[in-house]
This record gives sequence, C-alpha cells and structure tokens, in this order.
Amino acid sequence: MQPPLTTIQQDFQVSFRYAVHFTRDLFAVSNPLFKNVLGQDAAGPPPKLLVVLDRGAQRHHPRLWPKIEAYCRRHPEVVTLAGAPLLFEGGEHLKNNPMNVNLVQQAIHAAGICRHSYVAAIGGGALIDMAGFAAATAHRGVRLIRVPTTVMAQADASIGVKNGINAFGQKNFIGAFAPPAAVVNDLDFLPTLSSRDWIGGVAEAVKVALIKDADFFTFLEEHAEALADRDLALMQQVIYRCAALHLEHIARGGDPFEFGSSRPLDFGHWAAHRLEHLSGYELGHGQAVALGLALDSTYAHLMGLLPRGQWQRILTTLRSLGFALYDARMEVEHGLLDGLKEFQQHLGGRLTIMLLWDIGQGLEVHDLDPDLVRESLGSLKERAATSEGYPPRGAAKLAGM
Ligand SMILES: NC(=O)c1ccc[n+]([C@@H]2O[C@H](COP(=O)([O-])OP(=O)(O)OC[C@H]3O[C@@H](n4cnc5c(N)ncnc54)[C@H](O)[C@@H]3O)[C@@H](O)[C@H]2O)c1
Ligand SMILES: [Zn+2]
Repeated sequence: MQPPLTTIQQDFQVSFRYAVHFTRDLFAVSNPLFKNVLGQDAAGPPPKLLVVLDRGAQRHHPRLWPKIEAYCRRHPEVVTLAGAPLLFEGGEHLKNNPMNVNLVQQAIHAAGICRHSYVAAIGGGALIDMAGFAAATAHRGVRLIRVPTTVMAQADASIGVKNGINAFGQKNFIGAFAPPAAVVNDLDFLPTLSSRDWIGGVAEAVKVALIKDADFFTFLEEHAEALADRDLALMQQVIYRCAALHLEHIARGGDPFEFGSSRPLDFGHWAAHRLEHLSGYELGHGQAVALGLALDSTYAHLMGLLPRGQWQRILTTLRSLGFALYDARMEVEHGLLDGLKEFQQHLGGRLTIMLLWDIGQGLEVHDLDPDLVRESLGSLKERAATSEGYPPRGAAKLAGM
C-alpha cells in the first residue's frame, strides 16, 4: 500500500508597481515622459507600440495622431509604432459589444504584439476599460499604458487595477484585475470635454472624499461652482487628490483584487450601476454616481446615521457641481433594488453596502430596508419638485436658462 499523498500547499506573492504621471502636451517631441515610460524596462530591441484610440478624443484633438507618429519617429531607440491606430467611437456602448474586445485582440495578434511590447489605450474610461480587458487577456496579459482623456478616466477609471466590459445587462460583468504598466494623465485633453463629461468625474471625487477625506470634501464644497465653471487648474487639483486617494486605497486597503465582500470605493454604486443600465446608458457614469450618492446619503440620514447638516452639505455640493439629485428612472418599480442583488453577486459573500455616519467617515451595513429606500427617493423627489434639487445647474445653463 502506497502512503496517502500529502497536500502540497502553494504559497507565493507577487508585488505590483506602476506610476501614475501628470503632464501636459504629452506627445510634444520635447516632452521626454512618454519615451521614459516606454524605456522603463529597456532590454533588447525597442518595443512595439499599438495605439487604441478614442475617436471622440481624436476628433477634438486632430493633431493627436500626427503628433504620436512624429514622437515615435523621433525616438526610434525606444519605440517602433505598430502601424495605424485602432479607432473606436468612445462611450459606454463600447463596453456593451464584446466584438470590440475581439477587434483589439485581433490587432494585437496582427501587429505581433508580445508580452514585452505595449498597447497604449488613449481615451475615456469606457475605451480604457475595454481595451484594458483585451490587453489583459491577449497572451495572458500584454503591457498596457493608459492615457486617459476624460476627468473620470484621469481621476478614477484609469488608475486602478480593474478592466472590463458589460454583459447580460450588468456593468463590468466580464473583466480582469490587471494593473497597467503606467498611467499618463495629460491635462491638455480636458478643455474639449462636453459639460457632462467635464463634471462627471467629479462625482467620484465627492464619493472618495465622503468616505475617506473630510478636508477634501470641504475643498470640493468650496470650489463646486468654480469647478462647474470649468476652472482647469482646480480640476487638476481635484484629479490629483482623487487619484491619490484611490491609489492609496488599492495599495494599502488590504484587498486590491477584491477577494472580500467589502468595496468601500463603490459607495453609491449599487444604485449607480443599475441606473446606468435602466437608462439604456443614457446617463453617464458620473451622473449616475451622483444620483447614487444622493440616495445613499439620504438613506443614511433617514436611518438616523448621518446628521441633517452634513446630509444637506452633501446634496448642496452635488447640486452646485451641476448634478441632478433625482431621476424618475430611480423609482423602485423600475427595478432599482435589483441593483442590490447584482452588487452582492458581483462581489460574492455577504451584501456589504457603504453608508456614512459623517462626512469623511463611512460605515458598512449588510442590508438596506426597501421601505427606507422608497422614503429616501420620496425625499429627493420632493426636493426636486421644489426646484431645490432640479433642474441641475449645468442643465439649466445648457438650456440657456
Ligand atoms: N475600471 C475602473 O476602475 C473604473 C472606475 C470608474 C469608472 N469606470 C468606467 O469608466 C466609464 C466612464 O468613463 P468616462 O466618464 O470617461 O466616459 P466615456 O469613456 O464614455 O467617454 C465619454 C465621451 O467623451 C469622449 N471623449 C474622450 N476624451 C475626450 C476629450 N478629451 N475631449 C472630448 N471628448 C472626449 C468619448 O469619445 C465619449 O464620447 C464607465 O464605463 C465606468 O464604468 C471604470
Ligand atoms: Zn465609479
């Protein structure tokens, strides 16, 4: 008789390291940053670079591609451009069609991109999530440089470890945790954003401030109108702080790849993700997050957790930034509460929802009372009807009111 085979316990650690850079005019031939990023692991011949480009960014920055070509021609010692860029019309629909991932993977194959080459994804959060997933799965992961061109992407979507697309009516159902090789934030992309996409990313800044940094919330509160009025220098500060808080959480929060059931950075997101879907993706992610923050803050107040004064400050700040606080598509009968089920299923384990007991102080709970969600929606609806909550400042401005 052979003795029973003992279990072999596998145990190893992998550490990740990547930089998030901040610059202007990234592809000016005189700017060494991109060349330094490409040359960071210099060994062997200059790596190939495949560019996946957001048509929206390209349309508003028509010199972008010629500048990239000129930049790569000037620095043949660090990079070989793998042909023309792969262009996609930006926006959430990019994440709703799995064929787009296939197109990026095909281009990676056709260009002979290997695990020592680079894919640069240049665009909004949707393009970067989609192209990032394709890069994470081709050859089990090729190097990805993210060059985000929206506030949302620079402050949040591009800087972390999550890549993915939507499927089966659910946001980010298919995806992979894969840290990038580097992230390069160029402020000069931002002035051409639509009003919606200019302010959308600030909802994530409000979110992270509310759960982690009361001083940052006060900063946002004090500068809400100037931010809505497109102050670029202020926006740079907001992006920097928001990115730093997200990065710190990923590195030091103890669960970068979300094995547990707690996901504090998804404060307000159980409703936001559901609302994006319920609106047929007509609502931007940032606008949906703002609605989710208003709802969960109101819930926290009505359950006796968040003091009235703090609750009012949150709603006023969101309004001053130009966000709506209520949307008819939020009503429970449209299926909002399915968002809770989806949220739990996405992470697995026990339902864990972040609420607030103060500005800068989150508190996790394990269920939400549907009646209190209804009451919270009622309160926001009432506020909207008295014009305190609607129309949002930005919308009024757009309509020339
Ligand atoms: N992976 C993550 O951790 C994470 C975090 C937050 C958000 N996200 C995802 O990010 C996505 C939203 O990203 P988004 O807000 O950037 O929207 P988006 O990617 O849909 O882009 C919005 C629009 O802006 C256009 N655009 C891009 N750059 C431009 C520029 N410089 N000037 C003018 N127009 C430009 C695009 O073509 C698009 O039409 C959502 O899918 C969301 O789920 C992911
Ligand atoms: Zn978000």
